[in-house]
Amino acid sequence: MPEFEALLRAGELCVAFGGLQVLNRVSVDVARGEVLGVIGPNGAGKTTLFNTVCGFVRPESGSILFDGKPLRPRPHQLTRLGIARTLQGLGLFPHLSVLENVIAGASHRVRTGAIAALLASPWAERREHRVRERAMEVLESLGIAAEAPRICASLPYGVRKRVALGRALISEPRLLMLDEPAAGLSATETTELAEIVRGLRERTTVMVVEHHMEFVMNLCDQLVVLDFGEVIARGTPAEIRTDPLVQRAYLGETVEVGDA
Ligand SMILES: Nc1ncnc2c1ncn2[C@@H]1O[C@H](COP(=O)(O)OP(=O)(O)OP(=O)(O)O)[C@@H](O)[C@H]1O
Ligand SMILES: [Mg+2]
Repeated sequence: MPEFEALLRAGELCVAFGGLQVLNRVSVDVARGEVLGVIGPNGAGKTTLFNTVCGFVRPESGSILFDGKPLRPRPHQLTRLGIARTLQGLGLFPHLSVLENVIAGASHRVRTGAIAALLASPWAERREHRVRERAMEVLESLGIAAEAPRICASLPYGVRKRVALGRALISEPRLLMLDEPAAGLSATETTELAEIVRGLRERTTVMVVEHHMEFVMNLCDQLVVLDFGEVIARGTPAEIRTDPLVQRAYLGETVEVGDA
């Protein structure tokens, strides 16, 4: 397969909930090694696009190719396929520790040793030890290793967002999908997050949904803009910034928000 082929290729995806067409022939290519931003007003279908790629939502029609092969994953197969995502919000186990939450993201690796673990084999112990070590490395790289034993619920939101990222990173995904990673973060935390994601791009391809425009514009190589379930623009941040259709879509949202 040619190297230039997109890592992820979603073609003409259609998704409807009841009578509502939430995605209408949405096509998105994610090139290897790029950071692709998916932006658009509230309700545009961004999370639904992620859910469809991840197999949480079945499209009515359309195709998804991952690494050139058809992708119809069940959600529990994602990490094994090389895809990890963070959820809009947190999606952590609040009463587990930071370390346990991150280890949960490596579940497929742990599970392969489950039977061996029942037999208490030294091999399974070694494997578990490796996963813990790897989780600590991930926490270290996110600057929160000191929080490893703490219960998530007791930690500030910004730290918990990093834990969620750590949980996605431990599986060493080839495609990392982040749904509003900067939501609820302070300005400093947002800048730090952009740095972290930039640092990941040597190892993984990133798809990110975000409302925070400065974050998106500074971080992403390419942007896709959704509005009412349709792609209304795609291009570099500079191209998108001046696109009249995009400006109109966001103006509509501003007016709505102002009226509310
Ligand atoms: N499970 C569902 N059942 C019915 N409607 C849904 C469901 N999930 C999403 N929707 C609707 O689909 C549309 C798109 O939702 P989606 O969550 O994908 O938008 P979004 O672009 O992620 O918005 P936001 O920026 O607010 O997160 C919305 O109108 C939403 O109400
Ligand atoms: Mg969303």
